[in-house]
Amino acid sequence: DKAGYKHFMLKEVNEQPTVSAYALAHYVDNETGLIRSEAEDVDFAQASRIVLVACGTAHYACHIAKYWFEKLARLPVEIDVASEFRYREPPLSKSDVAVFVSQSGETADTLAALRHAAPQVGHVVSVVNVTTSTIARESETVLPILAGPEIGVASTKAFTSQLVTLATLAILAARQRGRLSPDEERRLVRVLSEAPRHLAEAIAAAPEIEAAAREMAEARDVLYLGRGPFFPLALEGALKLKEISYIHAEGYASGELKHGPIALVDSSVPVVVLAPRDQLFDKTVSNMQEVMARGGRVILFTDSVGAQTASEGAARVVVMPTCDPFIAPIVYAVPAQLLAYYAAAFLGKDVDQPRNLAKSVTVE
Ligand code: F6R
Repeated sequence: DKAGYKHFMLKEVNEQPTVSAYALAHYVDNETGLIRSEAEDVDFAQASRIVLVACGTAHYACHIAKYWFEKLARLPVEIDVASEFRYREPPLSKSDVAVFVSQSGETADTLAALRHAAPQVGHVVSVVNVTTSTIARESETVLPILAGPEIGVASTKAFTSQLVTLATLAILAARQRGRLSPDEERRLVRVLSEAPRHLAEAIAAAPEIEAAAREMAEARDVLYLGRGPFFPLALEGALKLKEISYIHAEGYASGELKHGPIALVDSSVPVVVLAPRDQLFDKTVSNMQEVMARGGRVILFTDSVGAQTASEGAARVVVMPTCDPFIAPIVYAVPAQLLAYYAAAFLGKDVDQPRNLAKSVTVE
């Protein structure tokens, strides 16, 4: 049931404020204002590393979470796509905590990676939407993301709920490693609890995102740029556009532009920049100016302060809610998803059932 929406994907994007709150309700203890989690039995204090393994969109969620695990918990992070991880003979040890992230819990590569790692690591955790899945059954600790059934082939609400869940895991790891006082933890939990409201505000920008997407729909190639956690979000935005609109897209770290991809830029290439006003903003703006100097059409997603200072020369600026940097990558997932959705819908593509793709990839 599409509940009045034209596609399941649009419905599921719109469900994000609601379902992200389910994950928060599960992982936040309202009495104490602290995280409570099935993962409290994981020994992050003694862990030497966290190993995150997944495919596709779930893999990009891991890359965003890496910034949280490093910054908050000072925990070394290793990430790979499941299909590479299992065959490259990664050295693993009992001091590793291995985390497998999968919406379906049935992805063959992720499951095989889990089976490969399980005998070698200290603890196997899974972050899943389907808690009755094989990956969940074979994990010592299961962290549900509680996003509800995801029908659209393109993963949307599972992505933001994976992020919320991984954020709670990073906070827990930081606490165990003596990096967070209860007051600091409460502050982070309060910030994270604002994600549903900010997701709703980002969704309210849908008309402007749709207008940007219609312009983009004529392009042959699109570039997505971001720094820090917005780099993996740029990769996710490019993946979404490719898989449902069939427009070629690439995500890059903003600073990498001049090391190659800038050669692609001309007036026919839209360049999507995901950049809230943070300490890296000025650097991103100078990368944007390099694009504009070559005639590139910049579509900038930023907050109101960013829009005031950096709109000049951009073909389009879409204002996103002002939020704490901790949760900004969760909030900016919305424009990444909706750009792809509206471009594909405008082109008349089968948004919920893109060609060649299956919801659950149970073969290698
Ligand atoms: C992209 C997408 C895929 C999945 C990937 C992993 O929109 O849906 O990239 O994210 O196939 O699937 P799960 O999370 O079920 O393991």
